[in-house]
Amino acid sequence: MNPAVKSAAEYAAKRGMKPYVVEWGLRGLIEGWIHEVTGERLSGILHRGGTVLGSSRSKRFFDIKFREQAFQNLKERGISKLIVVGGDGSFNALNQFYADFGVPFAGIPATIDNDIAGTDYCLGVDTALNVIRQSVDSIRDTASSFSRAFVIETMGRHCGYLAMTSALATGAEVCLVPEIPYDLDSIAERMREEKAHGRNYLLGIVAEGVGMGESLTRWMGDALGMDARLTVLGHVQRGGSPTVYDRIMAFKFAVAAVDALQAGDTNRVITFKDGTFGSSSINEIADSKHAVDPNLIRLCENLSR
Ligand code: F6P
Repeated sequence: MNPAVKSAAEYAAKRGMKPYVVEWGLRGLIEGWIHEVTGERLSGILHRGGTVLGSSRSKRFFDIKFREQAFQNLKERGISKLIVVGGDGSFNALNQFYADFGVPFAGIPATIDNDIAGTDYCLGVDTALNVIRQSVDSIRDTASSFSRAFVIETMGRHCGYLAMTSALATGAEVCLVPEIPYDLDSIAERMREEKAHGRNYLLGIVAEGVGMGESLTRWMGDALGMDARLTVLGHVQRGGSPTVYDRIMAFKFAVAAVDALQAGDTNRVITFKDGTFGSSSINEIADSKHAVDPNLIRLCENLSR
């Protein structure tokens, strides 16, 4: 998020606009925590995780009275366009704000879940995947040294993208995700065969969306007779310095967002599809269900049975 904020502000300034930042998201819009970007305000933030501006899920923004207050804050400062970095919730909020007061916006998708329809990539995903990859590589050391089975639970809400990609990248033996029906009997058979051929440890990655972290760990102990442990990675996946890929993608999304606002292609979410930047309307995003790349699913099917 930080590289996106920095490059959007810098690029907007180069294009002759006067950039401001809003601290604490929707809450900051309501409270007027809005600052002109001058001097060194956005220096030294590129490498930082999270967002230096802060974020909030503001219930008050659903109330027209507070949206009116937010609009006044923008009007007083002469702010006529917004860029929002976030997910569905933020986009819908700004879409409503546009319907109320006609303030155009461009959305930059940012969620580690990578589950926004219309875009192949959301900011933060590569950084989260690298955190997961590093954690699983470390867990493998204990697993192999102590002949254990490990179940590692990844985030992703209802989407198995993080689990599938990290299972492939770390060479996990098992992967359970909402997108693929699983078959424990056939997994057991496969594992017994591998054990007979010398396998002494096992790594299973399970997406939080299947809700099976604990039961899969128990099952590995009972059905496979292995000493089994569960690691729930949790919020560690949402932190850390952004990877090179995420930084470069942030610059590209930010430039596309500023260009879209200047071209009048507004109230849309910037998308990255099949290697090209474009945009989708909020309705298109809301009406279509996000689908994980079928090639990725195909690669993972063998790990679910
Ligand atoms: O949507 C991003 C995400 O990290 C999900 O993967 C996870 O389920 C959720 O947010 C966690 O939310 P919170 O930080 O509110 O517990």
